[in-house]
Amino acid sequence: MSEVERDLDRLLAEVQSAGDVPAHVAVIMDGNGRWAGERGLPRFMGHREGMKAVRRTVTACLDLGVRHLTLYAFSKENWSRPAEEVAALMRLLSEYVERDRSELAEKGVRVSVLGDRSRLSAPARRSVESIETSTAGGGELALNLAISYGSRDEILSAARTLARRCVAGDLSPDEIAPEDFEAALFTAGSPDPDLLIRTSGEMRVSNFLLWQIAYAEIHVTPVLWPDFGERDFYEAVLDYQRRERRFGRVTPVSDDGV
Ligand code: IPE
Ligand code: IPE
Ligand code: MG
Repeated sequence: MSEVERDLDRLLAEVQSAGDVPAHVAVIMDGNGRWAGERGLPRFMGHREGMKAVRRTVTACLDLGVRHLTLYAFSKENWSRPAEEVAALMRLLSEYVERDRSELAEKGVRVSVLGDRSRLSAPARRSVESIETSTAGGGELALNLAISYGSRDEILSAARTLARRCVAGDLSPDEIAPEDFEAALFTAGSPDPDLLIRTSGEMRVSNFLLWQIAYAEIHVTPVLWPDFGERDFYEAVLDYQRRERRFGRVTPVSDDGV
């Protein structure tokens, strides 16, 4: 084992003994373009390098026992980028699926894609379907990939679902509960994120999980996404473990909500 690996193991042990591990971590993976720009490379090279950071983050979650990971890979607004960049991102999605599908399945990672898949190209849509099918049995980590995702769209779509149920007489408007709303979101089945990480130093949420992050702890790191590694992930979790989560009360609220 190298000195770097030993260091990482020590940090992992520190996180494990420092407190509760977040059940759900969400990440806004930002800074690929700047990473490439700093090196005089085209933007897509930053996206390609970013795939390695995805692998490191999945590994860190498996090692730590995080059960849900939601990665913001492509926003609805990102469709307005130059066609060339969008095409490169779609190709990278298929490449990621081809290369990682079997390993993810072996490790018990269940992949779901959140977002408007009707806008994806046919090959990208096939990739999405194939990774969801091949990993459907995974019970270790639920990996949600937000692709062609916009939170306002998600909320509107949930509102439409509930409105249709009301019109059908299956639900009364006065009885709509938060649980009904949550069940109609793309993230149904995942608890709310405990920790939201954004890389590249930007202090905004960019239309990501607006309903779900109501009480998430936010960790912003200046590290650009392609440079993000296990160490950065563990440090984000340590930062989270130092927070006092009060949910509006005057005293900290424990894991079981009391
Ligand atoms: C994040 O990196 C990846 C996507 C949004 C697809 P960016 O491409 O936004 O990189 P910057 O923010 O321009 O550096
Ligand atoms: C947010 O990053 C979307 C993803 C990480 C996929 P952007 O780079 O698109 O966000 P803005 O434009 O800085 O808000
Ligand atoms: Mg960006």
